[in-house]
Amino acid sequence: MLILGLESSCDDTGAAVIRAHPGAPVGEILASVVRGQDALHAAYGGVVPEIAARAHAERLDGVTETALAKAGVGLGQLGAVAVASGPGLIGGVLAGVMFAKGLALARGLPFWGVNHLAGHALTPRLVAPVAFPYLVLLVSGGHCQFLIVEGPDQFVRLGGTIDDAPGEAFDKIAKLLGLGQPGGPRVEAEARAGDPARFDLPRPLLDREGCDLSFSGLKTAVRRARDRLAAERGGITRTERADLCAGFQAAVAETLAEKTRRACRAFRARHETPTPTLAVAGGVAANGAIREALAAVADAEGFAWFAPPPVLCTDNGAIVAWAAAEAMAVRGPDALSLAARPRWPLDMEAAPMLGSGRKGAKA
Ligand code: KG4
Ligand code: ZN
Repeated sequence: MLILGLESSCDDTGAAVIRAHPGAPVGEILASVVRGQDALHAAYGGVVPEIAARAHAERLDGVTETALAKAGVGLGQLGAVAVASGPGLIGGVLAGVMFAKGLALARGLPFWGVNHLAGHALTPRLVAPVAFPYLVLLVSGGHCQFLIVEGPDQFVRLGGTIDDAPGEAFDKIAKLLGLGQPGGPRVEAEARAGDPARFDLPRPLLDREGCDLSFSGLKTAVRRARDRLAAERGGITRTERADLCAGFQAAVAETLAEKTRRACRAFRARHETPTPTLAVAGGVAANGAIREALAAVADAEGFAWFAPPPVLCTDNGAIVAWAAAEAMAVRGPDALSLAARPRWPLDMEAAPMLGSGRKGAKA
């Protein structure tokens, strides 16, 4: 079946056409087009939801047309239209959902609203025959959680961040060191020349049991170190900047590695899979030092390591189409009355942590 997947939940407008056999691993990506919005938000130092929503509304038709043309597929050949119907910035999610519904209605196509996080968590099976259950660490600009993926719609959350997501922390560090956005790749490049041991930075929450993470204190520690230097000498040198980046990146990698070790053990307590897979997903998974640290944990814990190619780790339409292909094994399509959801945790039973309030957990 050919599936069109649409993504608009944050600041990337994505459309992709994939070929999949619903319920069976490994899909074929015929075309995947992503238009980022870095330039639109650059002046504000972060994603402005209204600007993002408007850009998605303006660009969804263009990226869809390009993806179909690149795939050499006409609307008439599609078997389904899928869209990330949450969680995310609601204006953007709505733009995608309305566009997908319009297309489904006009062409009489089945409509699938899928969870954006499920797209990330199921990505390993889009590219490799990874069997359920497996363990995945989702690390992006907006998310950070350990999930046991037991089936297309069965996720157990073992833990996650109690404040910032790691990508968000990378972006803030880049901002406070004057490195520009997106911060992750810039901090990583800067860190290459730095000494990770020069500054004594904390390894947050290592003293607390379980798999929860925190990055806000680490960010503050970097800011304090920078401020101290600036107060003493009126600024920081290039070497000091590189050392701060290296120290920060090492602290993130070490903390993620230790919590991943614990998540591997929690997985073993639940499943007797002989060689389970540890996979990673999300934009931060592009970081070389973090990938290396996690691969070493997988090796030590007897897990097979799987990191999807970076283009599939960041937001795109192919993982949305794939989540729909997986969902087809366990349920039918959605009604056109489906609502866009700003909050949508994958594991409804896990204790809410991030951004939970009267309306419940965010993700
Ligand atoms: O998954 P993603 O494209 O978007 C969502 O947040 O959903 O992830 C983007 C995040 C940004 O915060 C970016 O700084 C971070 O991933 N990132 C990196 C690297 N490349 C991207 N963080 C650390 N090292 C990198 N090489
Ligand atoms: Zn994402």
